[in-house]
Amino acid sequence: MSNTNSSTEMTRGFGRVIGIGSYLPDRIMTNDDLAKIVDTNDAWITERTGIKERHISDPEKDTSESMAIEAAKRAVADAGIDPMEIGLIIVASTTPNVLFPVLSASVQAAVDADNAMCFDTNAACPGFLTAFVTAQNYLRSGMVKTALVIGTENLSNYMDFTDRGTCILFGDGAGACVITSDETLQYDAIMRAAGKRGECMHCESYMQKGKEKTPEFLKSNYIQMDGQTVFKFAVTEVPKIIEDLLGKTGTDPDEIDYYILHQANRRIIESVAKRLKQPIEKFPMNIEKTGNTSSASIPILLDEMKKQGLLGEGKKKVVMSSFGAGLLWGAVQTEI
Ligand code: UT7
Repeated sequence: MSNTNSSTEMTRGFGRVIGIGSYLPDRIMTNDDLAKIVDTNDAWITERTGIKERHISDPEKDTSESMAIEAAKRAVADAGIDPMEIGLIIVASTTPNVLFPVLSASVQAAVDADNAMCFDTNAACPGFLTAFVTAQNYLRSGMVKTALVIGTENLSNYMDFTDRGTCILFGDGAGACVITSDETLQYDAIMRAAGKRGECMHCESYMQKGKEKTPEFLKSNYIQMDGQTVFKFAVTEVPKIIEDLLGKTGTDPDEIDYYILHQANRRIIESVAKRLKQPIEKFPMNIEKTGNTSSASIPILLDEMKKQGLLGEGKKKVVMSSFGAGLLWGAVQTEI
């Protein structure tokens, strides 16, 4: 991995995706449901975001932990491996229901992957991509041969259902991939951050000693976002980082079968497609039914694509790209 585009040699080796799984809560909230609780309407949300409905966790049974476990079980079953082969589990989540034990250790116990080392990561929406790239580097080092990487989010816990600028966007769910060493695989990545521009997305922990529980503070415990600034950041930086990655690997954009982007807003995805001069058909989307599930969005989409027969035999050249709070963004090129 590098953040320069000076070389045009595609790296060979690291982790091939051999199993994918996801979990979406049963409960669905439509735009019309939201219009009953906040001043919005289906036409506005559909036109400005492409979202029609989203899955919302059931407080009786869904947590970030339970959703991660279910997605992980499905990915391991899809891979058809003995869980004892898994040497590493990374869970990416911005919304863990427990701070410790880490969610990855709960997943380890639930899938009987007793040989795995475990840790969690929080990299907001690009969390899955960050975990995926981290796992790739563990595989590259030879320390582990097979890894389980998961993105899980229970964002509805942090959604202010009086703020129409944010509550219409997000949804809950989890997605997971099993990756295993393959020396023939094509893989490369670029990850970037701009902490100095991080103000535009913010959510503060409730548990802070010395913080008076003023109305302002209580509001800051929910997702706060300057949507337009995030939108401009995404439509500028996402195509740029994809172009840089393709330049680095010496790949013509036409050679890529699918551009699998973070599902944040249909207009962002359309803008990236236009900027890369690629047909929109190469940009699969499920945002209409899931909303933005943050770090879970890419693996949920991968699972859907595999079930549709679009992926899975390792023959498709894909670019995955995500962006979010931090500001953080990244792109991965591989074959699935
Ligand atoms: O994972 C990364 C997370 N974040 C993102 O990806 C967010 C990226 N940004 C966006 O997706 C868009 O900026 C939003 C969907 C959040 C907002 O769309 P926009 O086109 O940027 O709308 P806006 O904030 O510029 O608002 C335009 C108008 C305003 O009314 P006035 O001032 O023109 O009268 C808003 O008050 O639309 C109004 N508005 C709404 N109206 C109906 C804002 N939200 C809503 C709403 N329903 N939900």
